[in-house]
Amino acid sequence: MVLLDISIQDRVIIGISAMVLLFSSFLIAFVTNQRKKLKYHKDLQAIQEDQQRLLMKQNILLEEKVNERTSELMHQKNNLQNALSDLEKSQLQLIQKEKMASLGELTSGVAHEIQNPLNFVINFSEVTSEMLIEMKERLASEKLPDSLKNDIDPILDDMTDNIHKIQRHGKRADNIVKNMLQHSRMRSGEMEPTDINSLIEEYQKLSYQSFKAANKHYECTISTSLDGHMERINIVPQDIGSLVLNLLNNAFYSTLQKKKIKGYDYMPTVSITTSMNRDKAVIIVRDNGLGINPKFLDKIYQPFFTTKPTGEGTGLGLSLGYNIVKAHQGELKVQSVEGEFAEFMIELNY
Ligand SMILES: Nc1ncnc2c1ncn2[C@@H]1O[C@H](COP(=O)(O)OP(=O)(O)O)[C@@H](O)[C@H]1O
Ligand SMILES: [Mg+2]
Repeated sequence: MVLLDISIQDRVIIGISAMVLLFSSFLIAFVTNQRKKLKYHKDLQAIQEDQQRLLMKQNILLEEKVNERTSELMHQKNNLQNALSDLEKSQLQLIQKEKMASLGELTSGVAHEIQNPLNFVINFSEVTSEMLIEMKERLASEKLPDSLKNDIDPILDDMTDNIHKIQRHGKRADNIVKNMLQHSRMRSGEMEPTDINSLIEEYQKLSYQSFKAANKHYECTISTSLDGHMERINIVPQDIGSLVLNLLNNAFYSTLQKKKIKGYDYMPTVSITTSMNRDKAVIIVRDNGLGINPKFLDKIYQPFFTTKPTGEGTGLGLSLGYNIVKAHQGELKVQSVEGEFAEFMIELNY
């Protein structure tokens, strides 16, 4: 009944109001929905950003780990390489030692075998020489026919001459044999901490005195420059001493020969220097003598190579010296300008 009382106008208003209500609730639902959607996207973006950040962190961590591993591997590789080169070095040293040992045995065997018969040659030639003198005296006291004397005398003179030659060359051979024995005994000495400077001073005096004794008028300016900070170094003193002795003898010899050629204008000069070079002790022997012909530079360390006349050199000094330095794991180097100078450098590791 009441409905019936509502006018058409009212009905229209009610209808419109209901529609507005419907529309606004629809709008509210739509806006809420949109908001939700927006929030969802924002949340999604935040999650994605978080994930990206996490990923980046992990990447950095991974990179750090890879770098760490790489440097570890590099370190291990370097260690292995060092070990390998150490191994190669000690292998070479072992081969060199083996070679030296067998060469030493052979040399000493040969030298011993030769020494005995050589002693016979030297001793019997000495006895024969004395017998010849006696024989000459005996014949001189006899009254012999001139023709016989004229026949015998030159024969006796020739025999004396010959026996002197046998003696001289026998002694030369003896000297070579002794050097060969020294060559083979080289590694028998013990290593001990040694003051290089005093060792050098000692051998320098020794070599100059003995060289002057054999060459009366020889004079030489010897300049020594020894590094006062040299530390004691582990070496076989007799071996390094004999090497220095030979280097000095060679230097004196070379300057003596030059003096014979140049005369007054020239003063033989030999210098000896020691120094510490990082982990090495360095000994330098230099002379202003004849120098070394470049074509001989790679031969001077060969056993028995010599340019000295027979009787004056054995050619064993530098070969022995080279092996002494090798046995010390050092180096022997040479520099020379022919006619100007020769310089030998010994490098020994601390
Ligand atoms: N200081 C030097 N100056 C010039 N030549 C040298 C010198 N040292 C060595 N030599 C050369 O090296 C050769 C070999 O020397 P070494 O082995 O000591 O034997 P040796 O002294 O018996 O000849 C010598 O004959 C000489 O030709
Ligand atoms: Mg010599």
